[in-house]
Amino acid sequence: MSIPRLVFVTCIFSLGEIALAAKLVTYIFGDSLTDVGNNNFLQYSLAKSNFPWYGIDYSGGQATGRFTNGRTIGDIISSKLGIPSPPAYLSVPQNVDALLKGVNYASGGAGILNDTGLYFLQRLTFDDQIKSFKKTKVAITAKLGEDAANKHFNEATYFIGIGSNDYVNNFLQPFMADGQQYTHDEFIELLISTLDQQLKRLYQLGAQKMVFHGLGPLGCIPSQRVKSKRGQCLKQVNEWIQQFNSKVQKLIIKLNRGLPNAKLVFADTYPLVLDLIDNPSTYGFKVSNTSCCNVDTSIGGLCLPNSKLCKNRNEYVFWDAFHPSDAANAILAEKFFSSLFSSAPSAAPSPSP
Ligand SMILES: *[C@@H]1O[C@H](CO)[C@@H](O)[C@H](O)[C@H]1NC(C)=O
Ligand SMILES: *[C@@H]1O[C@H](CO)[C@@H](O)[C@H](O)[C@H]1NC(C)=O
Repeated sequence: MSIPRLVFVTCIFSLGEIALAAKLVTYIFGDSLTDVGNNNFLQYSLAKSNFPWYGIDYSGGQATGRFTNGRTIGDIISSKLGIPSPPAYLSVPQNVDALLKGVNYASGGAGILNDTGLYFLQRLTFDDQIKSFKKTKVAITAKLGEDAANKHFNEATYFIGIGSNDYVNNFLQPFMADGQQYTHDEFIELLISTLDQQLKRLYQLGAQKMVFHGLGPLGCIPSQRVKSKRGQCLKQVNEWIQQFNSKVQKLIIKLNRGLPNAKLVFADTYPLVLDLIDNPSTYGFKVSNTSCCNVDTSIGGLCLPNSKLCKNRNEYVFWDAFHPSDAANAILAEKFFSSLFSSAPSAAPSPSP
């Protein structure tokens, strides 16, 4: 039995470079899978997790705004890289010393499109996150000067994980316009052309080493399974996600060819997450088709303070109806980290000297 490994296409820079960089600085963009507390600062946001039982397995045992019982994948990858997990952008004092160490702009409910997650009232969309990053750049440039600032941003690594909400909190929601207005082919074109512009904007702001985390098999998350007759994965949804992932890979190849010194990488998490779900016992899990806490998917699918928790949280792949448990994140991060050091064949000529 082979364990699926993360597949990196267009690996024209060694991911090991990230881990070995002398002064590693990371900037993180994304949604609730990587939010470390930004939404707690959005007064009217309904996409919040700052209540029990979130954080029950985090150091201190308190909710921090992370959408899981413990650490996010980003937290675990950071700790493996030997750096502190970058703090939430909205929690950081806007002084340059803090911003220079790396920041996390991720926001629960966010998507590639502006209208994704509209009904959460407030969240930092990917466009908002890029705007905030631009402010970070302006502040750092004012202090360090243009050359030093450019060097700083060119050398940093950017982790981006976005797009899940464009499905689960947009296209797949019957009351949202996009699912009515567009066929899936049209919708995916809209997602990819928007993402193309967004990644180019990040590049123009100085981002060169970008790692884009592909989407997992969303048809198998508990909030989607309940829509099937017998709790099975939604095949159509998984097919759409695979189409999305494959279009993003093509986009990344195109961007690497067109943008000097761009080193974008696609981290394909889909096969690994699917294997975790299909063969939970291989990884020490017992349950992968439902969440640890009992959730009401009709009112959001998050664990609520009155939710009943499973007995052994490490036996569940899913914490709530959307988000992996700390134990699952640990395995995903482990696989990602070991892939940093396994060299992938070059798909394109390296533009670097
Ligand atoms: C989001 O809205 C802003 C204006 O508020 C607009 O400039 C931008 O192009 C929109 N982005 C997307 C992805 O639709
Ligand atoms: C999950 O799988 C188990 C065993 O395979 C089954 O008994 C249970 O009904 C399933 N739960 C859901 C919510 O589908």
